Amino acid sequence: MTTDFANVMASFSPIVSSICFLYAFSLGCFRHSVYEDISMLDSARDILKYLVALYCSLRVGTFLGPTQLGPMKGLIHLVLIVCNVKMVIKSYHKYVAGKPFKRMNLTGKVYIVTGCNTGIGFETARALLDMGGTVVMACRSTGKAAEAQDELLSLTGVPRERIVMLKLDLCDFASVRAFVADFERLNLPLNCLINNAGTPSIRPPFLSHPPTRILTHLLTLMHNNAA
Ligand SMILES: NC(=O)c1ccc[n+]([C@@H]2O[C@H](COP(=O)([O-])OP(=O)(O)OC[C@H]3O[C@@H](n4cnc5c(N)ncnc54)[C@H](OP(=O)(O)O)[C@@H]3O)[C@@H](O)[C@H]2O)c1
Repeated sequence: MTTDFANVMASFSPIVSSICFLYAFSLGCFRHSVYEDISMLDSARDILKYLVALYCSLRVGTFLGPTQLGPMKGLIHLVLIVCNVKMVIKSYHKYVAGKPFKRMNLTGKVYIVTGCNTGIGFETARALLDMGGTVVMACRSTGKAAEAQDELLSLTGVPRERIVMLKLDLCDFASVRAFVADFERLNLPLNCLINNAGTPSIRPPFLSHPPTRILTHLLTLMHNNAA
């Protein structure tokens, strides 16, 4: 019975270890090919853990004497399988899924979200509203923003006064100044400015839309100075 257990574990463990190693290796390569600021050392350390686990699962038999081959061998393989699966789950949460989402009470808090008529900004606004926050939609197209506002109202069921719409084109200094003045007139506090607007660009050159990024910082500075 114990020999059966050891044999089953011994045949499973190298397979699991190989799959986990391949997963870690592909994930490391993908991150390096896409992101610029990944430390080679970090990835190498991550991959090394899987390599050690794979080596151990292939060599358990040779570490143990013939008398311990039974239950001990099975147990070591089981531990290796569990460790590998745990490491994969950890890597998945660290690099792919991100930290688990935690609901917070944001009642009374005010958030400016730039470019939130679509994409990540829209979903951010929706999550903030769902948690009780007030969202100032800073969008360059009033038409698109009005449509998004209606959609947010129907999706979240919050009262209209919790979604304020203001025009902002981050490529235009005058529009940024006008936005800051409009926001000041609302007499609302500002708990967080979410600099979302822009065009996705994950490969160099990162400054594919320099004005958006530069003016976003100007917006922060102007509001801080006015406060
Ligand atoms: N999606 C990705 O994979 C990814 C990856 C890395 C970083 N990001 C960053 O995450 C942010 C949002 O990405 P996303 O995928 O949600 O983009 P998206 O769907 O294209 O939305 C971009 C938003 O920014 C607005 N915007 C663009 N230029 C603007 C300007 N000059 N002034 C005001 N608003 C402006 C757009 O308004 P209009 O609708 O009027 O065009 C839109 O609302 C971007 O900053 C992007 O660089 C995204």
